Amino acid sequence: MRKALFPGSFDPVTNGHVDVIKRALSLFDGIIVVVAVNAEKNPMFRVDERLSLLREVCEGMPGVEVASFDGLLVEAVREFNVAAVIRGLRAISDFEYEFQMAMMNRSLDERCETVFLMPGPAHSFLSSRMIKEIATLGGDVSPFVPAPVVRALTSKRNGNAPLA
Ligand code: PNS
Repeated sequence: MRKALFPGSFDPVTNGHVDVIKRALSLFDGIIVVVAVNAEKNPMFRVDERLSLLREVCEGMPGVEVASFDGLLVEAVREFNVAAVIRGLRAISDFEYEFQMAMMNRSLDERCETVFLMPGPAHSFLSSRMIKEIATLGGDVSPFVPAPVVRALTSKRNGNAPLA
């Protein structure tokens, strides 16, 4: 079994992430999607919320597991005993940071290989940050995120709305 780790903040998971998971599944026997506990200092969704959204979204995708990790990615790679790390590359602007991270991880552990996958063009401009902003301001994010995420963003917005 050759498995790969797909790490990220997933705050929240987008259709772009789902596209990358599906592409990765065609290359590996299994994908472990891991939510980084400390990646984002001020996340909209708690780790347990991000995990349950990912589980709901990945339900019915055989070979996909969802977990969290705290600490260094290279340690998670060892712990989950995977062959590679998957990262999505949307545009050239992603490349510099991703290249730096991949090379740093490889310097920390020579066995840590990173595989970059490009989401389809329909998803190449998506970012969790923009989706949160649009949803918070009342815009329609349903073309960009799975249905459970639309519901979760709506309920956050309602919950966070100031009292009239
Ligand atoms: O979805 P993101 O925010 O782009 O994911 C970034 C993430 C979580 C993959 C990255 O921040 C990470 O690997 N964090 C774990 C800590 C670590 O290993 N840092 C050194 C990487 S060079």
